Amino acid sequence: MRPSSLLFTAATAAAAAISHRVRDSAPIAVSGSVPDNAGDPVLHPFVSFSIEFAFFPDYAGNKSHPNLFSNQLLDNIAALQGSKPYIRVGGNTQDYALYNASLKTATNGTYIPSISTDYPRILYIGPSFFESYSTWPDTKFIHGFNLAKNDSIALDSLLATVPLVCKALQGGKLAYWELGNEPDLYKTSAQGIMRPANWTEQDYVNEWLNKSRAIRNAMAKACPEMATDAAYKYIAPSFAGVSNSLQPVTTWKDGLDTDHDIALNSEHNYIGGATQPGVTLQGTLMNHTSTVNSVNKQVNLSRVLTEENLTPGIPYILGETNSLYNEGAPGLSNAFGAALWGIDFNLYCASQGIRRTHMHQGTDYRYASWQPVQTNKTTIGTKPPYYGNIFVAAMLQGGSDVRVVNLPLPKEEEAAYAAYVDGKLARIAVVNMVEFNYTETKPNATRPSATYTFQVPPSSSQKSLSVQRLLANGSNAITGITWDGWSYNYELQGGKPVRLHNVTVGEKASVNEQGVVAIDVPYSSAVILNVE
Ligand SMILES: *[C@@H]1O[C@H](CO)[C@@H](O)[C@H](O)[C@H]1NC(C)=O
Ligand SMILES: *[C@@H]1O[C@H](CO)[C@@H](O)[C@H](O)[C@H]1NC(C)=O
Ligand SMILES: *[C@@H]1O[C@H](CO)[C@@H](O)[C@H](O)[C@H]1NC(C)=O
Ligand SMILES: *[C@@H]1O[C@H](CO)[C@@H](O)[C@H](O)[C@H]1NC(C)=O
Ligand SMILES: *[C@@H]1O[C@H](CO)[C@@H](O)[C@H](O)[C@H]1NC(C)=O
Ligand SMILES: *[C@@H]1O[C@H](CO)[C@@H](O)[C@H](O)[C@H]1NC(C)=O
Ligand SMILES: *[C@@H]1O[C@H](CO)[C@@H](O)[C@H](O)[C@H]1NC(C)=O
Ligand SMILES: *[C@@H]1O[C@H](CO)[C@@H](O)[C@H](O)[C@H]1NC(C)=O
Ligand SMILES: *[C@@H]1O[C@H](CO)[C@@H](O)[C@H](O)[C@H]1NC(C)=O
Ligand SMILES: *[C@@H]1O[C@H](CO)[C@@H](O)[C@H](O)[C@H]1NC(C)=O
Ligand SMILES: *[C@@H]1O[C@H](CO)[C@@H](O)[C@H](O)[C@H]1NC(C)=O
Ligand SMILES: *[C@@H]1O[C@H](CO)[C@@H](O)[C@H](O)[C@H]1NC(C)=O
Repeated sequence: MRPSSLLFTAATAAAAAISHRVRDSAPIAVSGSVPDNAGDPVLHPFVSFSIEFAFFPDYAGNKSHPNLFSNQLLDNIAALQGSKPYIRVGGNTQDYALYNASLKTATNGTYIPSISTDYPRILYIGPSFFESYSTWPDTKFIHGFNLAKNDSIALDSLLATVPLVCKALQGGKLAYWELGNEPDLYKTSAQGIMRPANWTEQDYVNEWLNKSRAIRNAMAKACPEMATDAAYKYIAPSFAGVSNSLQPVTTWKDGLDTDHDIALNSEHNYIGGATQPGVTLQGTLMNHTSTVNSVNKQVNLSRVLTEENLTPGIPYILGETNSLYNEGAPGLSNAFGAALWGIDFNLYCASQGIRRTHMHQGTDYRYASWQPVQTNKTTIGTKPPYYGNIFVAAMLQGGSDVRVVNLPLPKEEEAAYAAYVDGKLARIAVVNMVEFNYTETKPNATRPSATYTFQVPPSSSQKSLSVQRLLANGSNAITGITWDGWSYNYELQGGKPVRLHNVTVGEKASVNEQGVVAIDVPYSSAVILNVE
């Protein structure tokens, strides 16, 4: 990184805008009150995480060694959105985990490189695994039980964990339970076939009901207050996709919620695969069309479930999601461009009635928001996607009724959103996703920017809107990122917000008498205009 290039001032933005102004079209009208096409109010917290089961002890630490860095990063998000992210502890390895009461360590994972070098395919957990639920204050969790393993040893193991985990989550730490990760892949998974080809939605539902009832019986003995109708709640079915080898719609029709214990309809979503041919930062991630196409599959499923009244009063969430499945691709999922993707993806989800998203994390995963411990593969630290999480939390802050609407823009490398708090326009976000690769650019070239013009309700009192920017040297930057001048990097103060005095803050955008406001946004950056 050239030191001077982190410095970005309003003056340079304005200069860039004069030479590179891309559009002088009519302003985009932004209603002062919630328009009909806004998403349902987001759930609080909206920004949430999913942590790969085997790596939860890395992320959270244990009683003697709590992971304070992770806790700080969660607190930073809480300071913006009002509460700590919910943490789902699950993923592929939740369905491999077996309990070993004699194990002295939290986990004993064995990697099978022909299956994956990213996570252990054989996993035992010991009693101290559950200590990791005690290290983050004011945090609620979703614990993922194993559904895939279903011989009698696995059933004994599953039931043996019930008293441990319910005691670990007593006293307000439980959000929900989960039973099984991506059961719609059990018949086809490249990580191992778990069920015969003739396994049906009804078979899945029967097993799910059977095991969730067995868990409840065990919980009634160990933690009776958590086994009541009011307290005993799940997210389900946690399918990988909307049309794999089991159909979500059929699953609900076949009686998944027979016991009325499903609080949230959880599905998983990835934009593409890490090693899929043709995947690029600009074409796959920094591409609003690609994001819309991906999210619309969920939206379509949601519409069918609503039309057929299969999930009445059960909000739709993404219980596990991120950019590229198979843990992300280096140079794509860990670059600043992926943070911009995360903003577009999450705000688009919010605008379409997907009411919470759990961004998936794992030690050494390329798409992780942070690396919780030092390993020989990855440096401990705050990674670019985290700054996207921060931006989304800032956009969605402010009370119980926060709704988002998408403001369509002409190009697929840009997106804009408005956020409404208690019915009133509160913020406008613009994400410019034109790839700006700073190492490819001539050293002294001016960074292009685009000008966006909005028409907000005219106000006699408000002559300007405050501006907050998410900036980095370019879409390929992996460090040197700032949100409104703040860095959350580990190497500064362990993830605490640190105001960098070399980045301009306090910028204002003036609003004319007609309510028109123009904002310059450098390529590969994002901005929030605060209306209040
Ligand atoms: C800004 O300050 C941070 C923290 O002191 C430093 O890491 C970074 O290199 C500085 N950037 C510039 C452009 O001076
Ligand atoms: C359980 O843990 C003990 C103590 O580490 C070990 O000796 C034993 O082999 C483990 N059992 C399994 C099935 O891994
Ligand atoms: C707690 O974590 C530390 C650091 O990872 C580890 O050395 C220790 O063995 C852990 N304690 C238990 C009981 O697992
Ligand atoms: C860890 O698991 C492996 C594979 O099952 C086993 O061979 C080994 O003995 C286990 N180690 C401990 C300490 O339990
Ligand atoms: C395990 O799965 C098979 C195949 O679906 C099913 O027939 C059997 O009942 C399951 N066993 C248990 C204990 O859940
Ligand atoms: C499903 O397949 C399994 C294993 O291939 C077989 O044992 C079982 O009988 C089949 N069940 C039905 C209902 O056809
Ligand atoms: C239901 O669970 C019992 C144990 O609780 C098991 O023996 C039986 O096979 C299970 N049946 C199904 C259909 O999963
Ligand atoms: C954006 O994604 C869409 C849908 O996948 C694709 O048709 C289009 O070519 C992509 N745009 C770019 C610039 O790659
Ligand atoms: C969603 O459903 C509409 C209407 O049925 C269909 O035209 C569209 O292709 C679907 N989109 C996706 C991404 O599945
Ligand atoms: C990297 O760390 C892993 C896990 O601690 C260890 O198994 C492996 O041998 C190490 N590899 C190298 C090259 O040091
Ligand atoms: C950015 O440019 C550098 C230098 O040409 C190149 O190595 C890198 O792959 C580019 N990054 C992306 C994400 O395209
Ligand atoms: C780029 O700018 C620096 C600092 O202003 C100057 O020293 C250098 O000569 C410039 N390089 C080119 C190629 O113009």
